[in-house]
Amino acid sequence: MTNSSKSDPSAPTTTANAMWGGRFEAGPDAIMQAINASIGFDRRLAAQDIAGSRAHAAMLAAQGILTNKDAEAIREGLLTVLSEIEAGKFPFRVELEDIHMNVEARLKEIIGEPAGRLHTGRSRNDQVAVDFRLWVRDQCDAAITGLEALMKAFLAQAEAGADWVMPGFTHLQTAQPVTWGHHMLAYVEMFARDRSRFIDARKRMNECPLGAAALAGTSFPIDRHATAAALGFDRPTANSLDSVSDRDFALEFLSVSSICAMHLSRFAEELVIWSSAQFRFVKLSDKWTTGSSIMPQKKNPDAAELLRSKLGRILGATVALFTVMKGLVLTYSKDMQEDKEQTFDAADSLMLGLAAMTGMVGDMTALQDNLKSAAASGFSTATDLADWLVRELGLPFRDAHHVTGTLVAMAEKAGIDLPDLTLAQMQSVHDGIRADVFDVLGVENSVRSRMSYGGTAPDQVRAQIARWKDALK
Ligand code: ARG
Repeated sequence: MTNSSKSDPSAPTTTANAMWGGRFEAGPDAIMQAINASIGFDRRLAAQDIAGSRAHAAMLAAQGILTNKDAEAIREGLLTVLSEIEAGKFPFRVELEDIHMNVEARLKEIIGEPAGRLHTGRSRNDQVAVDFRLWVRDQCDAAITGLEALMKAFLAQAEAGADWVMPGFTHLQTAQPVTWGHHMLAYVEMFARDRSRFIDARKRMNECPLGAAALAGTSFPIDRHATAAALGFDRPTANSLDSVSDRDFALEFLSVSSICAMHLSRFAEELVIWSSAQFRFVKLSDKWTTGSSIMPQKKNPDAAELLRSKLGRILGATVALFTVMKGLVLTYSKDMQEDKEQTFDAADSLMLGLAAMTGMVGDMTALQDNLKSAAASGFSTATDLADWLVRELGLPFRDAHHVTGTLVAMAEKAGIDLPDLTLAQMQSVHDGIRADVFDVLGVENSVRSRMSYGGTAPDQVRAQIARWKDALK
């Protein structure tokens, strides 16, 4: 189907193309329009687009490039457009391709001729670059806020159970007893690093590309410092070619989001395991679980499972944008329009994930007794026994390891745990062992003894809690 046929009564008679009638005799093929238009998704940049245009128009007036009268009409008109969009009354038109042309065309309908002056000294290339940067910057702020809430939720759990014992795992095999508070604080550390990565990325992206125009800058006497400041940027970007052609700020946001989603997925997996009937380490609240349509006993950790999977989408978006950008020559290429949808989806997934994890962590109940009995099983204090042999009997650690291993095998054969062995049984393996060895075989003593900085001892955990509470004030 073409729009050019003169015999087609619906074909426009004056301009064949809604946007660049001067140069074009024919409008786009319907399929061309479908592949080319971005308005279906970049309407999410409307607020940023209007903010950018307002800053640009005000600057043009201040520089004497626009009359104050025109600038004022543009300002008022843009506010009307924004309110139409916010009210859901804006007539988005696919033939106008994208948000930039849609806003400008509507502005023209509202204020007439001055609308045509708004695009002086800029291009859609720097326009989209600034819009998208503003949007991604907002998402960094949202992630930072979301992460702070999540860290606080973990911190509250840590504080409630600073000295509750639980098994610590390596290879998902019982390793050594640890404290609940210590385990919760491990996630505070991870999410704190994610937070600092978002802060860092935000700082780096906070330069304004507006005024780079199509690629080379402009001959109009614009003031890029003024527009940068008006839009909350630290400074204008320093190279116009780079300004319109890189999307590394979005890639950085996606990369940091991927790391964060990976962290979310790890605790999600722990929740899935811990809430199972076989573990019973935690009880998830009804608010964060679902039932089964057939098995009445079920309480499924769906939110945790979905959180475990969100990295798939977020990392997928990251790989997609890397692939779009790879090998693109300077400067702008239309490929780059493909930067948005996936970034939008990744950001939505991340924000939802952070909120869901915060809710779930806040609502979960640690089953303290189960944690404690699990902590004592699986020969979890074997290392404490070996350390005792080194400390009290002066054995080289390798020999102590061997003696302990023999005792573990003995207990395992008898179907009992280490503290259930008699002193006589122990002495049959090493005759120097004394009754006070039993002190170190208890899980409470075990965790209390791990006083090294950053260790699992409740005193260490409390010190870290105090540090984080202070930092998150
Ligand atoms: N919709 C376009 C995008 O998202 C805006 C920039 C268009 N620039 C151009 N030279 N066609 O990338």
